[in-house]
Amino acid sequence: MPVEATGRSAELTVVLPTYNERANVPLIVEALRRALAGVDWEVVFVDDNSPDGTAAAARAIAATDPRVRVIRRVGRRGLAGACIEGMLSSSAPFVAVMDADLQHDETLLPRMLAALRGGDADLAVASRKAEGGAIGEGLSRTRAAGSNLANALAQKLLKVSLTDPMSGFFMLRRQVIDELAPRLSSQGFKILLDIVASGEGRLRIVEFPFVFRERQEGESKLDTLVTLDYLGLLVSKFFGDLVSVRFLMFSLVGASGVLVHLVALRGGMLGLGLEFNVAQTFATFVAMTTNFLLNNRLTYRDRRLTGFAMLRGLLTFYAVCSVGVLANVGVANLIYENEPVWWLAGTAGAAMGAVWNYAASSVLTWRK
Ligand code: GDD
Ligand code: MN
Repeated sequence: MPVEATGRSAELTVVLPTYNERANVPLIVEALRRALAGVDWEVVFVDDNSPDGTAAAARAIAATDPRVRVIRRVGRRGLAGACIEGMLSSSAPFVAVMDADLQHDETLLPRMLAALRGGDADLAVASRKAEGGAIGEGLSRTRAAGSNLANALAQKLLKVSLTDPMSGFFMLRRQVIDELAPRLSSQGFKILLDIVASGEGRLRIVEFPFVFRERQEGESKLDTLVTLDYLGLLVSKFFGDLVSVRFLMFSLVGASGVLVHLVALRGGMLGLGLEFNVAQTFATFVAMTTNFLLNNRLTYRDRRLTGFAMLRGLLTFYAVCSVGVLANVGVANLIYENEPVWWLAGTAGAAMGAVWNYAASSVLTWRK
């Protein structure tokens, strides 16, 4: 049967990442209907399997409104990743991302769209810090201070000239995201900063001031982990993507393992009265276990293992690390034989072990 076009894609896709926003779903759809009257639009909820049934609430509306689409992701968490997936699911020429909790002013959308349609800009950013914008009641005093610090760092380290690089409210030509997507990190909240930094100054940007509203229903998901992750992105982008945020995190966890090892070794000998070699084995397992738990919680929190999969993961991690020790000692010996400089051989061995552990555990332990 020949396939014929029966219509065309919307002009604008609005991507709404959601996690536990059920009560906000009908409100935000209604707000979009009102704000986008006269525009050919669609909305995509990208829900990370919220336990409160957000996806089902969105599907209930989709049943009677074909402009509403839902992507339900299982086994993954992360605001940036959800935004990227939603944007990539679009066939519209323009794509917007905004929060689903009504903190963002949807009435700005038509003006942002008009700016992009004109062809003079690639990216329209709704800014709380531009002249006329404000964080209003939207952020606590501590969050506001943290947000200012994060901005200052981004501007200094990445030479990003946005007034509000942490804004989660923006619109772009879909082509931009199609090109940049392979380079973006899927963790954390800093999707816009990541897009702008990855665009390396080539994007033409316009800003629209707006007042950040107070959250209506539910609560914020921004926590310390998100902040750590943001700092990781700054460092990794600063070093020109030489090291990934993930590898950086993995190495930090590894470094913490050395401390844990020494404490456990001393505890094993003094506290439990173990002989040195028994205590050393004990400490090795303690450190591997804490490394596993921390990596599972931080480095791979988007692929976090739970229940039985976690036990399986722990065992593969032990196996990976054992081979890592062999790789470490092998390389160190090889170098030491040719160049008997202890610290050089030692560092090269440790680096080899870390790279091996990272590569192998990403395939075996936290496989996709
Ligand atoms: N799919 C998915 N997965 N959505 C998520 C996740 C996640 O892991 N975490 C949060 N969201 C959704 C929320 O449901 C909400 O629609 C939106 O992302 C923003 O999350 P909030 O938890 O409401 O963030 P906030 O209000 O504290 O943070 C605001 O300010 C930040 C900078 O200060 C947002 O505008 C952020 O986008 C912004 O970066
Ligand atoms: Mn919010």
